[in-house]
Amino acid sequence: MKKILITGGAGFIGSHLVDELISKKHKVIIVDDLSTGQRENLNKQAKFYKLDIQSPKLEDIFKKEKPEAVMHLAAQMNVRKSIENPVFDAKSNIVGSINLFENCVQYKVKKLVFISTGGAIYGDGVRIPTPENALQAPISPYGIAKLSIEKYLHYYHNQYGLNYTVLRLANIYGPRQNYKGEAGVVAVFANQIKNNKPLFINGTGKQTRDFTYVQDVVQVCFKALKIRKVDIYNIGTGKETNINELAKKLVKISGVKSVIKHRAGIKGEQMRSCLSTNKIKKDLKWKQNYNLEKGLKETWRWFNNE
Ligand SMILES: NC(=O)c1ccc[n+]([C@@H]2O[C@H](COP(=O)([O-])OP(=O)(O)OC[C@H]3O[C@@H](n4cnc5c(N)ncnc54)[C@H](O)[C@@H]3O)[C@@H](O)[C@H]2O)c1
Repeated sequence: MKKILITGGAGFIGSHLVDELISKKHKVIIVDDLSTGQRENLNKQAKFYKLDIQSPKLEDIFKKEKPEAVMHLAAQMNVRKSIENPVFDAKSNIVGSINLFENCVQYKVKKLVFISTGGAIYGDGVRIPTPENALQAPISPYGIAKLSIEKYLHYYHNQYGLNYTVLRLANIYGPRQNYKGEAGVVAVFANQIKNNKPLFINGTGKQTRDFTYVQDVVQVCFKALKIRKVDIYNIGTGKETNINELAKKLVKISGVKSVIKHRAGIKGEQMRSCLSTNKIKKDLKWKQNYNLEKGLKETWRWFNNE
């Protein structure tokens, strides 16, 4: 049994990870400011601290709990918000992460797993599926912040020997995903179908994404805790799906008669995104358990019962 501190453990991905770690008998401490996370996502067997990771009080938690490992998922992850307010984004993401890493070093954390993004770090024009060593040219403050945090980790490793793994996630979907604001498209569509509303596709719908089911991500995060070598991995499916196909598939799975409409595209929206996962498959013997059909069925079942 390990004592693991998870930032963002009240959020969509973090809460699934907490459930998995608790089911594997680990002791879990959650730090989350509930800015987008939900109280109802909190696993009752985890210890919860409502705190912004930028706060100096974070040290009190490290002093008291002395976690052996840290999984860092807390983030301001709204790209549009990062464009509207880059200062807020940088404080929450970059400064908050530095505060966390300082504590990791001071309290001798043995392993840190950082959840980064493969969607916002590589822009358009890279090879598809995109390998980890492709050009990283983020075009949003959110993507820039994630890349900066990766660079800070490199610094903390060189300077203090902090052992870390970076996981760059593709587009993750599944139960508990927020459908409000700038949310995951699967959650948005599922909510529209449930409420008998038309599904609105931005632009032509030919833009592609690499849709990855949340339970597959949880399994790989869990495996990453055991990696000794400092490294960066993409996590996705390696398969491109366009938004038109996605909408049709979800409507079919739901069995609900729904109208699919198109509206104006979003200026500057990335056209293609799909990650190569050869490296993680080779190094960690990781394989996905959910194809799109299976993942969408699980997701629809959850949204429909909510
Ligand atoms: N969902 C995706 O498709 C996706 C893709 C790539 C990367 N990611 C990354 O995965 C992580 C989890 O994302 P998610 O989809 O579960 O989103 P989410 O918004 O549900 O989770 C983020 C959590 O962090 C908390 N949080 C935000 N800022 C905080 C702060 N300053 N201090 C403490 N807590 C804070 C929120 O309350 C929330 O519970 C994020 O780091 C995100 O960048 C997600």
